[in-house]
Amino acid sequence: MNRTPDADSFAKPIAPALEWLGRSHADLVERLREYVRIPSVSAQPAHAPDVRRCAEWIAGRFRSAGLETHVHATAGNPIVVARTPRVEGAPTFMVYGHYDVQPPEPFDLWTTPPFDPQVRGEDLFGRGSSDNKGQHLAHLHAVEACLATGVSLPCNLVFLVEGEEEIGSGALQSFLPLHRRDLACDAVVISDNGIPDLEHPALTYALRGIAAMEVRVEGPAKDLHSGLFGGTVENPAMALCRLLSRMRGEDGRVAVPGFYDDVVELSAHERAELARLPTSPSDYLALTGSPALFGEPGFTPEEQRTARPTFEINGLTSGYQGEGSKTIIPSWASAKLTLRLVANQDPGRVIASVKAHLERCCPPTVRVSVKHGHGAVPYMVSPEGPLAAAALQALQEGFGHPGLLMREGGSIPIVSSFKEHLGADTLLLGMALPDDNAHSPNEKFNLRAYAAGMRMAVHLWPRLAAAVLASRR
Ligand code: BES
Ligand code: ZN
Repeated sequence: MNRTPDADSFAKPIAPALEWLGRSHADLVERLREYVRIPSVSAQPAHAPDVRRCAEWIAGRFRSAGLETHVHATAGNPIVVARTPRVEGAPTFMVYGHYDVQPPEPFDLWTTPPFDPQVRGEDLFGRGSSDNKGQHLAHLHAVEACLATGVSLPCNLVFLVEGEEEIGSGALQSFLPLHRRDLACDAVVISDNGIPDLEHPALTYALRGIAAMEVRVEGPAKDLHSGLFGGTVENPAMALCRLLSRMRGEDGRVAVPGFYDDVVELSAHERAELARLPTSPSDYLALTGSPALFGEPGFTPEEQRTARPTFEINGLTSGYQGEGSKTIIPSWASAKLTLRLVANQDPGRVIASVKAHLERCCPPTVRVSVKHGHGAVPYMVSPEGPLAAAALQALQEGFGHPGLLMREGGSIPIVSSFKEHLGADTLLLGMALPDDNAHSPNEKFNLRAYAAGMRMAVHLWPRLAAAVLASRR
């Protein structure tokens, strides 16, 4: 039996930190606004100076909170590492986050500009507010609250905040093996994911992986008059559409041979746990604005989007895109593709089998080529054990409701590398809500989630430290 230290022995010493958070709330919202104002878009080279400025800004916040902080230059975007004052012999935890954000386009769909953050109702609107600036800033503020009020942290914390998560974490992938010693930790905590709603906080124990690629179909050497040559040479846009239609069945099942071979099926216990989540099919209709739901038969929407792999077209380009019409056979067509993967699929093997299938299905009238993109290994960890129990308790304390278990459909590429290079499991403790519009126009962060997340983080460290110490005995 693991003995869970009783609530009172924890509540008393951390009370000043919780009070500090309560009375500082307005300032902490202002800080988040300042952070979101920096347009740290990693995908767009024009924003490189903003990305660097953003790294310096968050490093400055860590320093004023009392953490020893370094901004590491890399071949790509800087990596910020910040440490709380050393507690000898105590457990060490890492908090990971990313200061880069997705491109804000299309601008005209934003009610207020993406980098001019505004509070409306309970939400702060702005690109990056929930993915991921607000969520790791909540962790920073929880630690700042402890340090400012003399609440001693029973552990060492190392914050690792990178600037390339939205483009595949390339720099951090190289950084990690070189710094495995100074980044050694008992576990990693990440808040870069979501929960169903504020009454249902959750510990996420699985993330999907991803395999990205670009496929290009080439036909005639140049765009041709469709009246003069239509019917005589193949149209690459048509050929690409036909090719892509052979990658996935109408029911959503991926048609690439062998694709499901390594998929770990959901257990009955997992399905029962996922069924406790409050989100219903009609919520997905409302959230997405789609006319009807779609997906692999035999699975609930929650299972489909978190525990089943998919094949998606993210972008499709060919021919004339300007105003009016132009009667051509385009000389080429291309598509950006990603597949979401689940344990135990391997991105490299998936890319190879998709490529082989595309080549096999390609007619002789066009040429197909496939360019590999980024990949991330799916992540899954047991939601049982003392660390998970400690995290669930902190969720209850921070949000005032019992923590549930869930899986997530998104990917955080570095998580499996933490396991590989540091031997550390990751606890995913999201603060984002389903309507936060991550990657969409009008991204927002709910300020009640922000406050609950900060409280949760204050409760978390004593709980996790106690769990590690108990397991050392
Ligand atoms: N925060 C997300 C990942 C996420 C979202 C995890 C929701 C769980 C629930 C992250 O910033 C992200 O968008 N990741 C990318 C990674 C990709 C570019 C390799 C993703 O999932 O598309
Ligand atoms: Zn993201």
